[in-house]
Amino acid sequence: MPENQIFIFDTTLRDGEQVPGCKLNTKEKIELALKLEELGVDIIEAGFPISSPGDFHSVEEISKIIKNATVCGLTRAVEKDIQVAADALKYAKRPRIHTGIGSSDIHIKHKFNTTREEIVKRAAKATKFARNLVPDVEFFAEDAGRADNEFLARLIETVISAGATVVNIPDTTGYCLPHQYAEKIAYLVNNVPNIDKAVISCHCHNDLGLATANSIAGIIAGARQIECTVNGLGERAGNTSMEECVMIIKQHKELGFFTNINTQLLNPVSRLVSDTMRMPVQPNKAIVGANAFSHSSGIHQDGFLKESITYEIINPEEVGAGESKIVLTARSGRSALAFRLQKIGYEFNRNDVDVIYEKFLKVADTKKEVVESDLHELAKAYIASVAEV
Ligand code: KIV
Ligand code: ZN
Repeated sequence: MPENQIFIFDTTLRDGEQVPGCKLNTKEKIELALKLEELGVDIIEAGFPISSPGDFHSVEEISKIIKNATVCGLTRAVEKDIQVAADALKYAKRPRIHTGIGSSDIHIKHKFNTTREEIVKRAAKATKFARNLVPDVEFFAEDAGRADNEFLARLIETVISAGATVVNIPDTTGYCLPHQYAEKIAYLVNNVPNIDKAVISCHCHNDLGLATANSIAGIIAGARQIECTVNGLGERAGNTSMEECVMIIKQHKELGFFTNINTQLLNPVSRLVSDTMRMPVQPNKAIVGANAFSHSSGIHQDGFLKESITYEIINPEEVGAGESKIVLTARSGRSALAFRLQKIGYEFNRNDVDVIYEKFLKVADTKKEVVESDLHELAKAYIASVAEV
């Protein structure tokens, strides 16, 4: 594997599906899994097989149909869970079991009512058991974001010795600041003697709106896999958004990373996920929101119409978003009005536009957006008034 490749691990069908109201049936999961594969994701986390017969069936059917991507199933660090996941993954060309346990003292005390020593033992046992069933085992150290780094390093060293091929360092509660998350990853890189035997993975939640920033800080510090979801769906405030990470990596070439994602499919896949999960995307969402490539204020419109890079860092076609939009509101200027009039077939000179602009502002003050039918009315009224003279 190239040193600078960032593996995209999509968990839309697992962490994303945990969102209330987003539950998917097997047919929907298969449709989305096929699209995720076409998009170029490296790993598809298809579900949590022991959680329900329906989820077991979905993971099994996805395993049969996916050709290139790794198909992954989640488990607790419990042998029964791991065996069930292995059964669900038995048809997968590249199966991965994702097992793990809490690693922060908060989880160790309140969730497990046990000791750090016991957690290390359970983690090693679960990893070994999984590794006897499949060749690719990812271990998650739940709540690693709030775990003590020294203990975390010991836990990670142990699970790598037990056969983990990927070590996931989740900021489960979305607590870390980017520099803290980066320091945690760097600490593991520098203090886990066998770290070169595994890929480090970032799994960040968005409780403080930092999931994307933390994931990017994580790869800069040495991680090589990002766990993310389409549209940033996921528990509570969501997971790291795939489209954001992929485009940060693509835009910031100086980072020296690349992914396998076909970015032109980002918007079509976002729409499919939103429709299938019945979960609208906020209009101001980066990359895939309805307004991500819309310009509405006069100053921005004027600059954009002179040269698009004045106000756009991404060509919308590169992410499958079609054309940029010039939206007309009471904040729009003459150049935007002239541009939109021209687009629907009216060629007016500067003086004509000045006159129409005064009328346009009156209409614009009465509504949120001036639409095409309003423009036709304004243009026709102006043409009629000139003809009368
Ligand atoms: O957020 C988390 O810690 C998780 C694990 C199950 C990987 O989703
Ligand atoms: Zn999670």
